[in-house]
Amino acid sequence: QGRTLALLFLNPSLRTRASFQIGAAQLGATAIVLEPGNGVWGIEFDSGKIMDGKAEEHIVEVAEVLSRYCDLIAMRAFPGFKNWQYDREDPLIKALARHAKVPVINMETIIHPCQELALAMTLQERMGQLKGKKLCLTWTWNPQPLSTAVANSVVMIATKYGMNVSLLCPSPEYVLDERFMKAALENAAASGGRLSVSHEIRDGYEGADVVYANSWGALPYYGDPEREWGLSRAYVRFIVDEGKMAMTNKAIFSHCLPVRRNVEATDAVLDAPSCVAIDEAENRLHVQKALMLRLLGVAAG
Ligand code: CP
Repeated sequence: QGRTLALLFLNPSLRTRASFQIGAAQLGATAIVLEPGNGVWGIEFDSGKIMDGKAEEHIVEVAEVLSRYCDLIAMRAFPGFKNWQYDREDPLIKALARHAKVPVINMETIIHPCQELALAMTLQERMGQLKGKKLCLTWTWNPQPLSTAVANSVVMIATKYGMNVSLLCPSPEYVLDERFMKAALENAAASGGRLSVSHEIRDGYEGADVVYANSWGALPYYGDPEREWGLSRAYVRFIVDEGKMAMTNKAIFSHCLPVRRNVEATDAVLDAPSCVAIDEAENRLHVQKALMLRLLGVAAG
């Protein structure tokens, strides 16, 4: 009640923006949306930079000023899709966190933690105990190579809950960065879960209790979408359809949204009662309200 939250969006959003703004309002807080470069000065994030380019101000001042106005700062900053060695260090949100005097929330960078809190809540609502349940995280084709953020967060949270995670992707080029694979393996070791990689559709789907679809670009082709296109277009068949869902253990299906209908998953899969993607989107609101209260040290009512 009476607190303030700055939402810095460097990229578009529907769910994240709406759920944080509405969640803050429901708690009696005020959320303001700031879009650097669109009515707000462009921001430089690199330290030591001679700022003679487009950016009018530096994250140092942005973080310190917003910390005087706000109790929380949230930021969405997708990776740059030029150099994975640079992007994998998550430099933009780290720069914000370094200079902010209040808690910082990740609204998606190279991970998407709020999304995966919502996934965990949704799976618990439908299935109760998650330990030992099989989750197939299937790669799906997309005309654009997308970030690995959601996939990174899915493997980390599902293994944290002791799930048996099958990462299904067309070829070894689509395996996630070793940093997240290692974190997921460590989670699995601690929770009694499992993480395996398969390039065979039947292996991934067979016996699955959950199918989660996501599209991401192959890291060896990062920054080269034309080369990536040459690789990925052979794998359009990874679309989630009723035939593949029939191989599962009557699995529920989800997706973080936005989803390209009849490219990533068919209408039949998305419109079936087993699809919980809308529940997961709703749960963004609930988990983020809990997260804001936790970060502010306020007990939930
Ligand atoms: N899932 C998700 O983060 O949706 P938006 O990109 O619309 O915020």
